[in-house]
Amino acid sequence: MISKTTIDNVFETARVEEVIGDFVQLKKSGSNFKGLSPFTDERSPSFMVSPVKQIWKDFSSGKGGNAVAFLMEHEHFTYPEAIKYLAKKYNIEVEETEQTDEQKEQANERESMYVVSEFAKDYFHKTLLNTEQGKAIGLSYFKERDFSEDTIEKFQLGYSPDTWDAFTSEAIRKGYKLEYLEKTGLSIVKEEKQFDRFKGRVMFPIQSLSGRVLGFGGRILTNEKKAAKYLNSPESDIYHKSKVLYGIYHAKQAIAKEDNCFLVEGYTDVIQMHQLGIENVVSSSGTALTPEQIRLINRLTPNITVLFDGDAAGQRASIRGIDLILEQGMNVKVCSFPEGEDPDSFSRKHTLTEVEDFLKENAKDFIQYKASLLVKEAQGDPVKKAGLVRDMVESIAKIPDVIKREIYVQECARIMDITENVLFNTLAQIRNKGKKDVVKEEKPKASGNGEMVALKNEEKVKFRRQYELEQNIIKLLITFGKEPVEFLDLMIEEDEEGNLVEKEVKRELIIYEKIYLDLQEDEVEFANEDFQNIYPVLIEHLTREEGEIKLDQLGQTLDPEIMGKISSIAFEPERHTLHKWDTHEIYVKSLKDNSGLETVQTLLNLRHFLIQSKMSEFGEQLKSGELPENAKEFMEEYKDYKTLEVLIAKKRNLVIMPFMR
Ligand code: CTP
Ligand code: MN
Repeated sequence: MISKTTIDNVFETARVEEVIGDFVQLKKSGSNFKGLSPFTDERSPSFMVSPVKQIWKDFSSGKGGNAVAFLMEHEHFTYPEAIKYLAKKYNIEVEETEQTDEQKEQANERESMYVVSEFAKDYFHKTLLNTEQGKAIGLSYFKERDFSEDTIEKFQLGYSPDTWDAFTSEAIRKGYKLEYLEKTGLSIVKEEKQFDRFKGRVMFPIQSLSGRVLGFGGRILTNEKKAAKYLNSPESDIYHKSKVLYGIYHAKQAIAKEDNCFLVEGYTDVIQMHQLGIENVVSSSGTALTPEQIRLINRLTPNITVLFDGDAAGQRASIRGIDLILEQGMNVKVCSFPEGEDPDSFSRKHTLTEVEDFLKENAKDFIQYKASLLVKEAQGDPVKKAGLVRDMVESIAKIPDVIKREIYVQECARIMDITENVLFNTLAQIRNKGKKDVVKEEKPKASGNGEMVALKNEEKVKFRRQYELEQNIIKLLITFGKEPVEFLDLMIEEDEEGNLVEKEVKRELIIYEKIYLDLQEDEVEFANEDFQNIYPVLIEHLTREEGEIKLDQLGQTLDPEIMGKISSIAFEPERHTLHKWDTHEIYVKSLKDNSGLETVQTLLNLRHFLIQSKMSEFGEQLKSGELPENAKEFMEEYKDYKTLEVLIAKKRNLVIMPFMR
């Protein structure tokens, strides 16, 4: 483990503009730097670096964060790797904290397993290229499959000799311990005897994101019915089937660059597509996709295109996997190959352009795909159609983003020729049911319309309004959290005769305190999930640390995803200058001078907004004529809200005036 002192030292020394400057050409632009996004192919710069805030933001891909986040994103480093890289760049000595004996032993054991696997990979590869048996059997097999020499080299393909223990005895002769040969599953130990697991198979090494060999897949070359076609390394301390994707090491750059990942079924599909020139491909190796694998892809891109072999049975089975991808908030497309073809065979028969065109034309959005697959089955059968509708909506319900869900509902309604309302209702049912199943304690939302499922047009506008207000509050916290703000508050007091009178009071607070107190007073909770997560972190930071928020410091402890969102909010004002709004004579108000006013207004607007939603909810209920059982309490609550509404409306007027002076 790297010591805390080293990490602090690195964060204090590293300058985000210098770190990024090694990879991206940056030009000064106001108080920021800008350049071409290293994550997409673009002609006009939308990549911004702020030396003041020590953060970066890529507006074309949405990514952002501190220097470490950049290295993790761009170089695909792990956190410790990024810290070590920076330490080296700035000549900082890396201090490792003492590990316990147990930790050391575990680390050593894993390290030994990696070393053995690396040796095995080299051994199989050399055997393939340099031995008579390897050339005659293994190499000729690969040649027959049209694998080029370059491909065999790139994927380090190999051959395991067709003798009981050729590999194992060679490894032991070279000094590798049987213990690790067994733990990696390369050798099987039975009654004092040792055997090679992969005897007589061609070998596909499986590498991690950073290129370490974790395990192997071995394909049989005979037609023995009894033996499995592919044999894979067993689960071990270094090989977790559910966490790896075949080909990820060779695909990572291309996935990030193309901003899309093709997901295929097998080893040979990955290899053949690579050979043709499509490199953003990985395979889940024949098993159903796991959440860990999806997250691995999600580190590189939010877009997945699933490629199915051309047999319908396989496709039906894989649809369940797609729901899982949706749940992780990714965008899914699906493409089936013609009957009898898989990406491997198809790539062998066509040119790069042909395959690219095919993928472009046939990759359908999952909704269209699922509909087209199921619609055939349900033709002329209303009962089946109803089931189909539910099936589709169940997939849509998995999508975390409310706006995306909405778009899918519209699309789905169009394809299946039913009204959006029916779909929205089903969606609401399914999501509510899901909520109860999860047994998550949900606080009642002040807006009362927490789950924005059945959005009518008018509600959409409202939803966006709420989002903007909430985002503005977060932005104020980030940018001006520690600034003092003076404002006039309207208090209700009793006068000498005991009447309630309104009184203007001048108060002074720090912006973050004002925000915190106001929101707490009304028990306002953010509707947006990201803001729900970000808000307490910011408040905590502002309470604890001196001075304004230091985003680079915050980035040390935060989930990179949340940090990315914070950076993009922090960059919000710069974004205007980026689009040259000023030169188009659109005046963008500078926030700094008006931060106090902006804060008070935003808070009042949000509170006003929430109260109005509540009021219109009451209105609906009153109109429907169905007063709830507790009608009396209901009316009292209604009255309270009414009073509050008036008070807040008055406060809003008040805010505008004194500050105009
Ligand atoms: N697979 C496996 N074990 C098996 C069969 C398949 O692990 N007994 C995995 C392999 O990762 C394989 C993938 O499932 O690559 C897809 O299986 P399949 O389509 O049968 O294999 P192909 O990749 O098409 O292999 P080939 O073209 O060599 O027959
Ligand atoms: Mn195949």
